[in-house]
Amino acid sequence: MTGTPDIGWFLEGGARAAESIRSILGKNGIDIGQTRALLDFGCGCVARHWQRLQGEVHGCDFNRRLVRWCRRRLRFGRFEVNALRPPLPYPDRRFDLVYALSVFTHLPEDLQGPWMDELGRVLAPGGHLILSVHGQRYVDELSPAERARFEEGRLVVRQEGLAGTNVCGAYHPFEYVRQTLARAFTLVGFLPEGAHGNPRQDLVLLRR
Ligand SMILES: C[S@@+](CC[C@H](N)C(=O)[O-])C[C@H]1O[C@@H](n2cnc3c(N)ncnc32)[C@H](O)[C@@H]1O
Repeated sequence: MTGTPDIGWFLEGGARAAESIRSILGKNGIDIGQTRALLDFGCGCVARHWQRLQGEVHGCDFNRRLVRWCRRRLRFGRFEVNALRPPLPYPDRRFDLVYALSVFTHLPEDLQGPWMDELGRVLAPGGHLILSVHGQRYVDELSPAERARFEEGRLVVRQEGLAGTNVCGAYHPFEYVRQTLARAFTLVGFLPEGAHGNPRQDLVLLRR
């Protein structure tokens, strides 16, 4: 979640993240209970809250240890390992909901577009994609040069050499989300600081 070893946070943060997903979908007239198949991309403590859903629950991550944990503990779901770069091991249009909470926050720019394309590929037409990003609320954590770049609407990435780990940090201005990240999707909802399991991250709802 936020890289913390705190088990209380792991449990509560996952529940809050699941609630954020229900809530942004609900506000846009979408009932997660009607989902046929969902994918938790960069999975873990959120998927565990979907046990009662009727639809299929899938998750994937490039961290084999996490996937092993999910396979052992979340028997209702199906979990796969993927590589740092696409593709995913799923056919086209496999899911009607994909979410990636605090995943694009740890990817360098050369992986952001390819992963958006890949998540779009596995989504059915009309399906939804939910992302969380480090947005405006994080601007005070940036250096003056990074802040200037962010305020020009450009992506800021730190430690790109450690792509996919929590050490690599990506910061998304809203304009970058709208014009670049989401360009192949319809932007349906945007909640500043709305990703409650990942405090202060913005929550983005897109439709394919
Ligand atoms: C900060 S954690 C967030 C975990 C979870 N989504 C949550 O909100 O609690 C980032 C997760 O994304 C995974 N991740 C990063 N890059 C990935 C990639 N290219 N493919 C799949 N998973 C990735 C990491 O292994 C890690 O589990």
